[in-house]
Amino acid sequence: MNASAVEPAVINSSIQAPTTSQTFVYIAAIFAAVGGLLFGYDTGVISGALIFIKRSFGLSIFQQELAVSSVLVGAAVFAITGGSLSDRYGRRKMLLITSVIFIAGALVCAFAGSIQILILGRVMVGIGIGLASSVVPLYIAEISPASARGWQVSLFQLAITIGILVAYLADYVFTPSSGWRWMLGLAVVPGVLLGAGMLFLPETPRFLARHGHFDLARTVLIKIRGTQDVEEEFQEIKTASQETALRGHVSDLLLPALRPALMIGIGLAIFQQVTGINTIIYYAPYIIRTAGISSLQGSILATAGIGTVNVVMTLVSMWLIDRVGRRPLLLTGIAGMIVSLGALGFIFHLQAKGGELAGLAVVILMFYVASFAISLGPIFWLLIAEIYPLKIRGLATGIAAGTNWLANFVVSLTFLSLLKSLGPSLTFWLYGVLAIGSWLFSYYLVPETKGRTLEEIEQFWHKKPVVNQLKSTIA
Ligand code: BGC
Repeated sequence: MNASAVEPAVINSSIQAPTTSQTFVYIAAIFAAVGGLLFGYDTGVISGALIFIKRSFGLSIFQQELAVSSVLVGAAVFAITGGSLSDRYGRRKMLLITSVIFIAGALVCAFAGSIQILILGRVMVGIGIGLASSVVPLYIAEISPASARGWQVSLFQLAITIGILVAYLADYVFTPSSGWRWMLGLAVVPGVLLGAGMLFLPETPRFLARHGHFDLARTVLIKIRGTQDVEEEFQEIKTASQETALRGHVSDLLLPALRPALMIGIGLAIFQQVTGINTIIYYAPYIIRTAGISSLQGSILATAGIGTVNVVMTLVSMWLIDRVGRRPLLLTGIAGMIVSLGALGFIFHLQAKGGELAGLAVVILMFYVASFAISLGPIFWLLIAEIYPLKIRGLATGIAAGTNWLANFVVSLTFLSLLKSLGPSLTFWLYGVLAIGSWLFSYYLVPETKGRTLEEIEQFWHKKPVVNQLKSTIA
């Protein structure tokens, strides 16, 4: 297949963004960071808190898995519906509601008197991060100049990784006092930041235009671009919003031309999760202790090291993504994941026979996370923001994001049980086999989008010959 037949540099063009849009780009970047922090902090914080929650409430394995996974149920459902809810009520209003739900959920967790209340709080927090994960990218895409869209999507993943790292550090700080309530309660901070940000940020010009508020849309555009000279862009938005008013439906995604795009979004969403990233992110201290590092603080510190690798390698990926393209990074990173999952399984195999390989296990975990951070991590979120036509972008992005949360839920709900029934070696080898599937899927199906405008990518799906090429590779 000629996957590289799709096109070049969204991020390149963002680097060349006109100076008049710089202020806006800066504000949007901060906004993206807050949305990603919510996502990262809340999914990451549970890894260190779990040990103490287990002690406080005397949890069974299944209850521990529920404490970890309940966030994901809310997230899955509300990521899928988030896009269309924001079509009806507005991106800004939905994000304000998101921040309120999110703050309330974090407080319920912090003051929970029973495991049931804790799980309720985790579901509320999940609703917040599910909404944030589909509406934040939509909001950013609609206020961004087209030339800045690409790198901002990758900034979203960067913020996720920073949120996870901050969560690990919070876990480390509160470990001596067994302060799991503080660990979960601190999530209020990004929630407040998001709410405060949205009070000052405007509704998107595209949403306003779609609802017929053209004057307001022009005023907002002038404000966020920092110039009166917005007529050309305003006319584009007006035209696009009129097209978007012909509301897209799920059935559009099933049309032959768009089916490959649907498959890619859903497929990558599943593969991003079933290759095991969150067994490391959520259960890292547990795995490290299983590998033989017995001190509680030692294992949490090693986890923070893993979080740092995640942030740094995401930065590396952002630097490389326009230079080498999405496909080479994706394929190289997944290959690294396959090798490290194989090695990890092997280490646990030796460990079971009495080896002392805890340090090596941590190094391999870091290599695994580094491989994910340059590939499936950022590139999944980037591709689902890039590959869908404008008319159905929110809907399709929501479906892909929701699928990702569902897959995340299944993996984290089953991980401890798998460890118990299969043992660590076979469990990691299983993820390794799924990573091989993920490599083949990406090799045969994922197109190269480097350097292409969203409109060019949109055209790509409708060019029959190229779609046929894609199909013939599938077959
Ligand atoms: C994934 C999350 C994961 C994170 C790790 C994201 O792209 O969607 O599930 O926890 O990366 O950095």
